[in-house]
Amino acid sequence: MMTNGPNPASAAEVIRARLAGRTPQVAIVLGSGLGPLADRIEDAVRMPYQEIPGFELPKVEGHKGELVAGTLAGKNVIAQSGRFHLYEGHSADTAALPVRAFAELGVDTLIVTNAAGGIRRTFRPGTLMLIADQLNLTFRNPLFGPVRPGEQRFPDMSASYDPELRALARTVGRRQGMSLAEGVYAGLIGPSYETPAEVRMLERLGADAVGMSTVLEVVAARANGIRCLGISTITNLAAGISTAALSHEEVMETAAQVGRELGDLVEGLVGAL
Ligand code: HPA
Repeated sequence: MMTNGPNPASAAEVIRARLAGRTPQVAIVLGSGLGPLADRIEDAVRMPYQEIPGFELPKVEGHKGELVAGTLAGKNVIAQSGRFHLYEGHSADTAALPVRAFAELGVDTLIVTNAAGGIRRTFRPGTLMLIADQLNLTFRNPLFGPVRPGEQRFPDMSASYDPELRALARTVGRRQGMSLAEGVYAGLIGPSYETPAEVRMLERLGADAVGMSTVLEVVAARANGIRCLGISTITNLAAGISTAALSHEEVMETAAQVGRELGDLVEGLVGAL
């Protein structure tokens, strides 16, 4: 018999017990270097992953391992600081576990952030890109196997990144004097960065940015009827777009530099929901 991997209901039960009756409406997944966003959450309840069944400790530098629930701009939110990447050896089910737990908790809006390499030629390190659509090039899918209770077998992915949320993000960004790009995010399994030939391939396939996360979370969210907004921080130009060598340090540094701007955007957006 095929198993369904870690059980989101058990995780949600433990999380719910810590929420003291508050139901988070919005979940925010914090990407590389974006952890400080969690510090803006008021009345914060911090839940280290060790306390949550099925949540393993992330091993990547710059990624914590905790959920932070509380209020942001007056709304009940839950933030995920530290995600489960396939390249760490996690299954698609583990990568999607937090999103499924959020669905169990009643979250209806997911904001995913990530660090990504810029493929579109006009992008510069520090560009913020609203994700308009995705290419799941991990060749994994968290919906593989038996259908889970409450999930769709064949979710429609044609408006995975909610157009209304994107429009709202642009309005909030404009108000804050930010310029936001918009494009297609390609999610690969990693962990090696792409070769220049792979980046040329991705460019021809229609990708504007490339990274190693997000796509499976959004698949799981859509199967649960959660609307999604995705924001990529372009931390570097993808391999071959610039001749500079790529490094995780550069990625972390740029992500940290843009963190405040991104935090302002997310906070403004949550307030405007
Ligand atoms: N490629 C893949 N993932 C990334 C990159 C990149 O260039 N930058 C940040 N995450």
